[in-house]
Amino acid sequence: MILLKKATDLHNWLESQGKKRNKIGFVPTMGALHPGHISLVEYSRKENEITVASIFINPTQFNDPKDFKKYPITIEKDIDMLEKAGCEVLFLPAVEEIYPDGIAPKKHYDLGFLEIVLEGKYRPGHFQGVCMVVERLLDIVKPLNLYLGQKDYQQCMVIARLVELMGQKIKTNICPTLREADGLAMSSRNMRLTAEERKSAVAIYNCLARIKENLRAGNTDSLLQKAQLLLEEKGFKVDYVEIADANNLSRISHWDGRQKTVALVAAFLNEVRLIDNMLLN
Ligand code: PAJ
Repeated sequence: MILLKKATDLHNWLESQGKKRNKIGFVPTMGALHPGHISLVEYSRKENEITVASIFINPTQFNDPKDFKKYPITIEKDIDMLEKAGCEVLFLPAVEEIYPDGIAPKKHYDLGFLEIVLEGKYRPGHFQGVCMVVERLLDIVKPLNLYLGQKDYQQCMVIARLVELMGQKIKTNICPTLREADGLAMSSRNMRLTAEERKSAVAIYNCLARIKENLRAGNTDSLLQKAQLLLEEKGFKVDYVEIADANNLSRISHWDGRQKTVALVAAFLNEVRLIDNMLLN
């Protein structure tokens, strides 16, 4: 695997690859890699000539500065995992490389409803920061295919919107969430949980599974109330538990029995905020 830190070096290397350059799969990450990230690399390798992964802890997407400071860094292990997965190139830029003119926003991305619901509501500015970094990365890598995890459901919708706003012909591929044996979605943040918190954390998955099992046409309020209680009993402070239209994330308080729906959760276990989601039908 080739490791490059400068955008121009990456650009020049990709240009030197001839026709292969036309079939690049790209997996953007913030590092602290786990098998969920690696599964994206594997999807990309199957479908492309060159797979580029990036590791960049993006300062502009952390609405909570504490979260940024505590973001886990495991770079040597990450490099090893990417190499074993057969990733061709790792882009590992410094902040100045991604934001040569500083980190202050230069424009506002029109994300519409996505910006004010769920993660948009609870993490103001977060998706603007995600768009800033992903736009820059896509400009540098110019992939044919982009690989994202369903784990960050709303982020997938935001990035699909960004690609549309950029007017690029990049295909966004949404890959399934990899889970631990008990169902907890793999996440870089899981390593910040104490052993006791780790045991409680599975309640998020259980709550989503219960919503899926018990969803019936009609009013969804009592189902959501029960789900929230289940989380609170396990010590979570809940930002939201919601059932939404899977295509636009508008809230579904009355399900018609046919509409494609997704349940989404965000909740804190002490300092650590976890998110997860499940398609319901
Ligand atoms: P990060 O949290 O490192 O995630 C990188 C990619 O891995 C995202 O597309 C995410 O959805 C996916 N992913 C995370 N956990 C997963 C799991 N358990 N199974 C499958 N895929 C999973 O998301 C970001 O970084 C950043 O916001 C980024 C897009 C890189 C922009 O900075």
